[in-house]
Amino acid sequence: MPALIIHGGAGRARTVAGQEAIKASLAQIADAAWAMVLDGAQAVEVAIASARLLEDDPLFNAGLGSKLQSDGVARLSAALMDGTRERFSGVINVEGLLNPILLCEHLQTQRDRVLAGEGALARARMLGLAEGDVITEAARANWRAALEGETGTIGAVVCDTRGDIAAATSTGGRGMETIGRVSDSATVAGNFASPSAGVSCTGIGEDIVDGALAARLVAAVDAGQPLAEAASNLENKMRARGWMAGVISLDSGCQWSAIHTTDVMYWTAMDADGLHQFNFRDVP
Ligand code: GLY
Repeated sequence: MPALIIHGGAGRARTVAGQEAIKASLAQIADAAWAMVLDGAQAVEVAIASARLLEDDPLFNAGLGSKLQSDGVARLSAALMDGTRERFSGVINVEGLLNPILLCEHLQTQRDRVLAGEGALARARMLGLAEGDVITEAARANWRAALEGETGTIGAVVCDTRGDIAAATSTGGRGMETIGRVSDSATVAGNFASPSAGVSCTGIGEDIVDGALAARLVAAVDAGQPLAEAASNLENKMRARGWMAGVISLDSGCQWSAIHTTDVMYWTAMDADGLHQFNFRDVP
């Protein structure tokens, strides 16, 4: 049986109402993605479609509603990895693009597969990808108050009916960061896949890069460790190092895992047993 897992970020727990809204959105998007999987869509197609829906929801820190950098500009990053072909594509700090994941899709077939800034925007324009203002009033208010904001990076990892795996991740970054900072999301630390496993990360990008979390977990499964054991080992390592992050993953047997060292990670999985979701956290 196939499986998929998506996330809408990690960090401090939001209000119960906020958690309810996230849970409902993730369930709706997972349902739509699951219908594609059962219809025979390829893992990479489903990962792109899931990431696009998550980018379109301002509840999350990707696409519309992304956090702003220290100069009040939203610069978005995203990555796509086709585990079967072991091919990575990414976009770093692009402005004014509604769905960076669609540029990652195009870049999968190109010679130069990771584009940043103006070069990324120029390519998106050449392709006619939708441009627009991704800044919401809530994101602007956080920036005015010099807050990093609560919303989280998004990600999707899919194992399709053939056992093929793909991973997609998209983010507006940490919020209030220095112009030019590069997020983990468009690196193999934040988004990685192979024929045996796929991973998407959320949390503090610098911690995710220090731990090479996505690549590390995939490498452990590639080397023969069961996913549950490899994810548990990684969580122990993250705790020992104080790395603040969340990691969703699945393997080619369609086992999935969701670990985090942050207070919460907002995730939803679908498999033969149906829908699985994060538990509510009490907020003081
Ligand atoms: N994980 C998102 C970021 O730190 O950029």
